[in-house]
Amino acid sequence: MRLLVTGRSGQVAQSLAEAAGGDISVVALGRPELDITDRDSVARTIAAHRPDLVVSAGAYTAVDKAESEPEAAFAANRDGAGNVAAAAAEAGLPVIHLSTDYVFSGDAAGAYREDDPTGPQGVYGRSKLEGEAAVLAANPQAAVFRTAWVYSPFGHNFARTMLRLAAERDVLRVVADQRGTPTYAPDIAAGIFAAARLILANPGDKRLAGVFHLVAEGETDWAGFAEEILRQSALRGGPSARVERIATSDYPTPAKRPANSRLDTQKFRDTFGHVPPDWRNGASRCLDRLVGPTA
Ligand SMILES: NC(=O)c1ccc[n+]([C@@H]2O[C@H](COP(=O)([O-])OP(=O)(O)OC[C@H]3O[C@@H](n4cnc5c(N)ncnc54)[C@H](OP(=O)(O)O)[C@@H]3O)[C@@H](O)[C@H]2O)c1
Repeated sequence: MRLLVTGRSGQVAQSLAEAAGGDISVVALGRPELDITDRDSVARTIAAHRPDLVVSAGAYTAVDKAESEPEAAFAANRDGAGNVAAAAAEAGLPVIHLSTDYVFSGDAAGAYREDDPTGPQGVYGRSKLEGEAAVLAANPQAAVFRTAWVYSPFGHNFARTMLRLAAERDVLRVVADQRGTPTYAPDIAAGIFAAARLILANPGDKRLAGVFHLVAEGETDWAGFAEEILRQSALRGGPSARVERIATSDYPTPAKRPANSRLDTQKFRDTFGHVPPDWRNGASRCLDRLVGPTA
């Protein structure tokens, strides 16, 4: 199968490109040749590459900056997402679009299911929620995968930040009152490949369209994630530090974040027959790459 991925340098896009092989080919494209805010650019790119399915992973992901740049966030996350889904639809292609736990308020007690009420707390979450609607309206073969707490060997992410800071400081202060599931980008790529295979084998199957939650198994809080990264780093002779558990109120940010980011993945697992691994397993594979293998 041939996948065209938007957002070449992104964590998920790079993970998809890296995992391609065998009967899976991946072309990941980004700016300047593919700008999702330019509908013609998207249509031209799809026509030139003739993929079987489009993965919409390009997005404005600067959560705090979005508060002061709402136009840019909505241009990419709502209008750009809609452009990609519509251009795919015009070419008769299904689209898998990535969205986020930030569409929820975080006030619920348990893990969020796909049809639970949304309630984004900031510009980024609102722009992604409107993007979901744009995608679903533009393409009858659209699957929206909400994921969360993405990290990888690439780009800016929490795991890399913790390792960098641990090399500089003895104590890291990390919020302990936001719960969710760290999700290793290559595990999102594996879920996308499994889903894409099924979607392409069953064209027009409505059960494979709509919103799904795709995160790793298990849950923790940011401090727990930091502790696991640093524990695994120490096992590999890498940097380590003590984690001081703090409250969100001790670490103010421009964008408010959900206290509960937990996503229920039952629908994804039942529909696509794919079970993502536990988050600690992903952390271990990420640390193998960022620090090195265990002795
Ligand atoms: N990171 C997370 O924790 C997280 C959590 C939940 C959901 N998600 C969602 O998962 C998806 C992938 O996230 P990620 O972490 O892989 O993102 P990322 O590493 O921040 O990469 C985003 C990519 O989108 C590209 N992009 C931005 N605007 C574009 C435009 N107008 N045209 C083309 N490409 C554009 C960026 O390119 P430039 O390099 O040129 O800026 C970048 O390559 C996104 O939809 C995100 O909203 C992420």
